[in-house]
Amino acid sequence: MGLSPSKPAVTGAVLVGPNGCGKGTQAQFLKEKYEMCHISTGDVLREERRKGTALGQQADEYMREGKLVPDELMLDLVHNELDKPQCKRGFLLDGYPRTKPQVAKLEEFLNARKTPLTHVFYFDCDPETVIERTSGRLVHVSSGRTYHSKFKPPKVNGKDDLTGEPLIQRPDDARDKVAVRLNEYFQKTQPILAEFRQRGLVRDIDAELPIQEVSADIDAYMNHKPPPSRQPATVNQRVTLINEEIARLQRQKLRWEAKLSQ
Ligand code: AP5
Repeated sequence: MGLSPSKPAVTGAVLVGPNGCGKGTQAQFLKEKYEMCHISTGDVLREERRKGTALGQQADEYMREGKLVPDELMLDLVHNELDKPQCKRGFLLDGYPRTKPQVAKLEEFLNARKTPLTHVFYFDCDPETVIERTSGRLVHVSSGRTYHSKFKPPKVNGKDDLTGEPLIQRPDDARDKVAVRLNEYFQKTQPILAEFRQRGLVRDIDAELPIQEVSADIDAYMNHKPPPSRQPATVNQRVTLINEEIARLQRQKLRWEAKLSQ
């Protein structure tokens, strides 16, 4: 699989994928299992907005519209967070980097401190799924814990499992904003994958699977193994799987193109 058998001293993982594909959900799993610090730029920006800082106020208009916040506001945002002691064993970047300038700045920073990225998890997910997941998402604001009315319901309707506090729907999960976010993702974020792919960092995750299966696949990669659901025994089986994957990606490309041209 092209994975190095030796374990690097610090695991540096990036989660990339369209809005609502499950990055935050899997970040919770990884954070708990591997004691990595979790930096979600969406959460950082929402917190800045809540505190009414200059950054929060500037980011607000873009976030409301579903647009990416301009790079000049984003480029240094994660560096302070990465220097915190809880990031010493490993770090998990959720929603960052999202543009080519963000990739360049992050890598310059990480290379200087000798903790390069080790995994880029690409959450492969159809637009229909994104819409279904975002429309049913419920969020506990102060912790960032997410639920889903159908796929991951809270124990008590509308309340956070741990605190009992109310859950909300994110304003940018409104259908028209979701379409803008998908377009931003497709135009600005999807292109960053090519460079990571060339360097053998990308692990393709079938984010259409149920939550536990997605976690199992990510877990396998974290342990330098192929995902459990894809361990072909013979060359012929591998060829069949690769052909199926090519056909699936071609179908997905057509669906994306049709969706974005609407
Ligand atoms: P951000 O908060 O990062 O939003 P996002 O990337 O659009 O991602 P989401 O939080 O919407 O989704 P997710 O993939 O984490 O899905 P989740 O796990 O919650 O960014 C918000 C905004 O901030 C951006 O629009 C932009 O303005 C700004 N911003 C942030 N970073 C920026 C950057 N680097 N540069 C510029 N601007 C930036 O799952 C969704 C739902 O599905 C949940 O209800 C969950 O329970 C459910 N679910 C998850 N997995 C599954 C599954 N496998 N099966 C069924 N249900 C599932």
